[in-house]
Amino acid sequence: MNTAGTLCRTRSTNPAFAGLDVSALAGRIGCTPFFAYDAAAIEWRIDTLRAQLPADTLLCYAVKANPLPALLRRLAPRLDGADVSSGEEIRRALAAGFDGAQLGFTGPGKSDADLTLAVRKGVRLCAESIGEIGRIARIAAHEGRPARVAVRVNPDVAVSGTQVRMNEAGVFGIDSDQLPAALRGLRDHRLTFAGFHYYCASRMLDADAVMALHAFCTADALRASDDAGLALDWLNLGGGFGIPASAAEAPLDMAAVTAHLHHIDARLKAAHPAARIALEPGRYLVGEAGIYVCRILDRKTVRGRTWLVADGGAHHHLHATLQPDRAQPANLPITLLQAVPRAGTECVSIAGPLCAPFDVLARDITLPVSQPGDLLVVFQSGAYGASASPVNFLGHPPAAEIVL
Ligand SMILES: Cc1ncc(COP(=O)(O)O)c(C=O)c1O
Repeated sequence: MNTAGTLCRTRSTNPAFAGLDVSALAGRIGCTPFFAYDAAAIEWRIDTLRAQLPADTLLCYAVKANPLPALLRRLAPRLDGADVSSGEEIRRALAAGFDGAQLGFTGPGKSDADLTLAVRKGVRLCAESIGEIGRIARIAAHEGRPARVAVRVNPDVAVSGTQVRMNEAGVFGIDSDQLPAALRGLRDHRLTFAGFHYYCASRMLDADAVMALHAFCTADALRASDDAGLALDWLNLGGGFGIPASAAEAPLDMAAVTAHLHHIDARLKAAHPAARIALEPGRYLVGEAGIYVCRILDRKTVRGRTWLVADGGAHHHLHATLQPDRAQPANLPITLLQAVPRAGTECVSIAGPLCAPFDVLARDITLPVSQPGDLLVVFQSGAYGASASPVNFLGHPPAAEIVL
């Protein structure tokens, strides 16, 4: 980084933002805060991952990670499908160029209106409960259309290496021991069985833990389809691949994970020759290819701690902050762009403009000496940012978003 505002490369192998002049970009956009996404870096990530996967793996994208229409339009031609979790996400995915048949609809609490839209568009429905299977059957009958129904499974597995687990205490999916009843429900309602869906954890950086999870879910799916005498043609192993949030974290060893997926694929196809693995990462595809840029408005000392107060924070980028329940902010990598070169470094904490103690972007980090007007660049900001933050709190304007 230099004070003229040009970014060097990010610290991962991802080529995102190499050489980008952030100060000039801020001038062009005309306001802060903003998110900028490097589409070429996302395409690089997709292509790199695809080259490592078994040839017919369906590489999909979890729209919730970043549903910006301009971004979806860039990604759609390179992907085999998308995971969607609301009617709005279905509409955005269709508008971006995905076909309804390429979409999988997950999520608890799907409304009748959203289920109806999905049935009309031929979306694969990932049923999260036995009751939902009944509702899908009723809606499909009312629409006079067939419905393709996959079963989202909540496997009885202890996922290690991450704090973000969906399967243990969460509401998601159907317990493995309820699968016989769920599959009987599909048959009784004459719905088409369209595979099994597993998504158990997020922010996974430990390759051994990911491989153990993939192996467990595959065995679970093979057992359930054998017990029910069903042919399996779609095994969705979800996403959840992490990106390092700080210098203390090592990147996920994706080469090991994908080599293991070749074994899984062989095992799957030995039992079900037509079966294909599907993956639907979100964060891994877009996270490193986004920056959040905000401006320092004020600086002050409170009980001996130097605070920079920025115009950006939790209302745009909740994930980067303390959030209501964290002891420490994520401390995502942050770079300072000085408007005027100044020598020296200092220890600072960075707060946003919200009247809330969780609006803290960084605590006790070392940055070059700053002044109001300088820009802050928060890396690793491409996923779960603008669309996953309480933008209406206090009524500050939303962040601009731009695809480069
Ligand atoms: C069903 C489903 N699939 C995929 C994802 C993407 O997860 P990640 O961004 O951790 O890869 C999510 C995230 O919540 C999800 O709920």
